[in-house]
Amino acid sequence: MTRSAILGLGHYVPSKVVTNDDLAKMFDTSDEWIQQRTGIKERRYIEESGIGPSDLAVPAVKMACENAGIEVSDVDAIIFATLSPDFTFPGSGCFLGDKLGLAGVPALDIRNQCSGFLYGLQIADAWVRCGMYERVALVGGEVHSTGLDFTDEGRDVAVLFGDGAACAIVGPAENDDQGVLDVEVHADGSGAKELWIEAPASAYMPRITHEMIDNRSVWPAMNGKQVFRWATTKMPEVARAVLERNETTVADIDLLVPHQANRRINEFVAQKLELPPEKVVHNIQRYGNTTAASIPLALSEAIQQERAKKGDLILMAAFGSGFTWGASLVRL
Ligand SMILES: CC(C)(COP(=O)(O)OP(=O)(O)OC[C@H]1O[C@@H](n2cnc3c(N)ncnc32)[C@H](O)[C@@H]1OP(=O)(O)O)[C@@H](O)C(=O)NCCC(=O)NCCS
Repeated sequence: MTRSAILGLGHYVPSKVVTNDDLAKMFDTSDEWIQQRTGIKERRYIEESGIGPSDLAVPAVKMACENAGIEVSDVDAIIFATLSPDFTFPGSGCFLGDKLGLAGVPALDIRNQCSGFLYGLQIADAWVRCGMYERVALVGGEVHSTGLDFTDEGRDVAVLFGDGAACAIVGPAENDDQGVLDVEVHADGSGAKELWIEAPASAYMPRITHEMIDNRSVWPAMNGKQVFRWATTKMPEVARAVLERNETTVADIDLLVPHQANRRINEFVAQKLELPPEKVVHNIQRYGNTTAASIPLALSEAIQQERAKKGDLILMAAFGSGFTWGASLVRL
């Protein structure tokens, strides 16, 4: 079977920079609190209403195609990972395909939150290995800023998230040294309500009421301490499982590209894996948590900054709402 590989990456973030001090003008928080607890200094928000994740994904896909040395018209499948789709239905992948002029190209939306990129990578890898598709645009894209509660009651979540999109073109490996070596993903729905948005919900009749708005069920709700505990346990656990299965040691890893949820979580994970700080990518200080976009955005930037290059062994790990988590080992 042909091994798959990440052939090129691209990313895009909106131009509106929102600093911690900007947020402190809207609700009771401070730059010091946010930086100390999360490492975030600023994040990006869409400039105006009407810009969805599929819009942010367009330049990200174009950049990824350019870096992969292909035309956008060569893309033969889209996977769109997002927890903030443009609309409830149809999926953002359909909107993206239309915006890219890819009529007829299949578009699969997946809903695996912060682990979405790794879930998508497992699907893209399987498609390419079995010969079904050859140029998969695997996109992570989020617009969080339209769904945050910018009041004192929502401040624990509102400070964390930012908007952005990134794309990896996954196709057959060009040589034996390159490729997606492994992807392992998990879920445990017993933690589903530790980080979720309750409404609108198909489970309720009607799906949305004034009462739901008044009692704040329409905003993301998070048990931060529980998420922190799970993330710092599951990310090193799954990363170790992938390393062991591939007879790889931490010393072989050129770069750890973790999901960017909280700098403290990632420092903890690196410490548990005994990875030196210079081998860990952090860009949360500039973008906050961009959920499904965060890993490809961090990897795309690392390549752009020549921190990662062809032939490097990259370990990726994620944890997020669901709960979902996973890790992957990729030779660029
Ligand atoms: C969210 C998180 C930073 C909060 O840090 P924490 O140390 O657990 O803080 P706590 O929730 O105990 O809150 C401490 C205090 O700060 C307050 N606080 C919460 N958000 C605040 C904010 N944005 N600004 C200022 N104070 C805030 C709380 O109300 C609380 O006040 P109290 O002691 O008077 O009750 C942390 O739990 C975390 O990062 N969790 C993981 C979240 C995550 O990664 N989510 C995405 C997963 S993909």
